[in-house]
Amino acid sequence: MNHNIPFKKHILVCINETCKNQGSDKIFEALKIKIKELNLKKTYRPSRVVCLGLCGKGPNVVVWPEGTVYCGFKEENIDDLIQKHLLRGEELTNLLYKPDIPS
Ligand code: FES
Repeated sequence: MNHNIPFKKHILVCINETCKNQGSDKIFEALKIKIKELNLKKTYRPSRVVCLGLCGKGPNVVVWPEGTVYCGFKEENIDDLIQKHLLRGEELTNLLYKPDIPS
């Protein structure tokens, strides 16, 4: 895939009101700490974003450049996100966004 993001992967954590009420700010902080502890912060960058348009399905997280959307993401999913998705390219199938509208 051809992309121009400055990191190997960019992890966007929604911290807008609905997701924040579901704990996303704590998830973001825990993810940031874990990535730093593993000395991965130059290649995997977590960022806070304001609303991914999926309010109520959260906490919501998107991984770029692939654009994988995870819903109902919890702090206990952080290790799998790092070890499986970021490092091995395996999606966390149980957390994948399921569109309401048929494609
Ligand atoms: S508040 Fe998180 S998707 Fe809208």
